[in-house]
Amino acid sequence: MARDDEQMNCLMVIFGATGDLTSRKLVPALYRLEAKDLLPDGFQVVAAARKEYSKEQYLAHIRDKYEAYNQESLEENIWNKLADRWHYLPLEFGNTDDYLKLKQKLEGLEKDLGNNGNRLFYLAVSPQYFETIARQMKAHDITKREQGWQRLMIEKPFGRDAASARELNQSLRQVFEEEELFRIDHYLVKEMVQNLMTLRAANQIFEPTWNADHIDHVQIISTEKDGVGTRGGYYDQAGALRDMVQNHMLQMLALSAMEMPDFLTAEKLRAEKVKILKSLVPFHSAEMEKRLVLGQYEGYREEPRVAAASSTETFAALKVFLKHPRWKGVPFYLKTGKGLAEKNARIVIQYKLPIGSWSLAETHQELIPNRLTIQIQPREGVVLSFNTKKPGTEDILMPVKMDFCQNCLAVTNTPEAYEKLLMEAMKGERASFTHWDEVEASWTWIEGVISWAESHPEALRVYQMGSEGPEGVERLMSPNEGREWL
Ligand SMILES: NC(=O)c1ccc[n+]([C@@H]2O[C@H](COP(=O)([O-])OP(=O)(O)OC[C@H]3O[C@@H](n4cnc5c(N)ncnc54)[C@H](OP(=O)(O)O)[C@@H]3O)[C@@H](O)[C@H]2O)c1
Repeated sequence: MARDDEQMNCLMVIFGATGDLTSRKLVPALYRLEAKDLLPDGFQVVAAARKEYSKEQYLAHIRDKYEAYNQESLEENIWNKLADRWHYLPLEFGNTDDYLKLKQKLEGLEKDLGNNGNRLFYLAVSPQYFETIARQMKAHDITKREQGWQRLMIEKPFGRDAASARELNQSLRQVFEEEELFRIDHYLVKEMVQNLMTLRAANQIFEPTWNADHIDHVQIISTEKDGVGTRGGYYDQAGALRDMVQNHMLQMLALSAMEMPDFLTAEKLRAEKVKILKSLVPFHSAEMEKRLVLGQYEGYREEPRVAAASSTETFAALKVFLKHPRWKGVPFYLKTGKGLAEKNARIVIQYKLPIGSWSLAETHQELIPNRLTIQIQPREGVVLSFNTKKPGTEDILMPVKMDFCQNCLAVTNTPEAYEKLLMEAMKGERASFTHWDEVEASWTWIEGVISWAESHPEALRVYQMGSEGPEGVERLMSPNEGREWL
């Protein structure tokens, strides 16, 4: 990550600046960027939320939270440098007068700083306020001005289904152009998700075999050990299909399956990802048994702010096909959930077995299929499994692994997702944000699955906290085809 003051200098306005997301993600990311001297000199933050804090009270609040959530202790000089950049403005989202105060605050700061008018707005708020805030900003002329850029960073969820996402998009588009909307999918800035494209583009051994002729199936897995914790109110309305599959899982699928564009520009990437998302084969009700497994961890209904009779899924596994010549007949298995055995995200590309292997028939040995595993978190790395001959006089097979662990290297200091997201938004780089066309295509496909799930609560299976998920998840794989969850 490099800094370019001229391009990045801006005022950042955080709506919802006393909330969980700001404390957990934005403040630590800005602190680390400050520590690395990556924030431009003219960068300042206007934190806006409902509480009537003074600047000092607000800074004490975010400092307390930082210290509660982060193991590393604060370096006083870095914190002070960052604190000097912050302002706090009490603002009620529906109150017109408060936006006038915001407008004056921004204009005053820009005058004092001699800033060129660039503004980065961040909606760290519940989605019910997205439209109100955008409308108020437009009404008070906080967005369109004579000079400088304006950008809006927006958190998930972007809608609850295709219709509500479309409606939200239309309202936002009355205020911002598509190029000004930075829809966050933090998986897209994860180091190994980005590395997936490099692996494909920069290694001749992978791309020519990246198709149905050579690949048996793909597994995309993102599991969490924890339950919903304090986020039950949000999660109970969403569930795994909306919270994870519609966005992160389908984005990873699109990046794994797309044609590699000749240049990794935002436009070209989007075009290729959209082709994949539009090629997702719909699930028919009659085949749900073979395509979908839903679960809920035991004890979920007792979590704070979760309905006592909730039928929200905390686990989803899907077997997906693409109507795409490159992937004819190749299943993509997606698995995600909370309250599972481990925190883990990875993409596994399992190759087909070689045809007619020499001496194997005589020795009755079994080949292990080649597997390319892209480990996303917590370990970041690439593992390639293949077969070799066991040293000795007999022809005995030995499966081995080449294992590259990226975040084990002492020289690697992987930036956190929100550091990259903020830097990229300040620079106007859009490749790691989702375009409306991608959001629309993924909602269009998944809403059929969600509406089936909502009308079939009996399909939900309870699983033990800390287990591998509900019974039946293995039935999505065909053991006689040499497949198993990895
Ligand atoms: N938390 C996470 O880790 C996380 C992760 C991914 C996405 N998200 C998304 O990020 C967004 C924010 O989540 P969050 O967990 O940070 O929510 P939160 O903790 O409930 O914070 C909400 C913020 O909005 C402010 N607010 C609420 N109503 C307001 C009003 N009428 N006028 C002015 N301010 C108001 C609150 O201010 P006061 O405190 O002053 O009332 C607070 O600063 C949501 O869309 C969520 O889905 C969160």
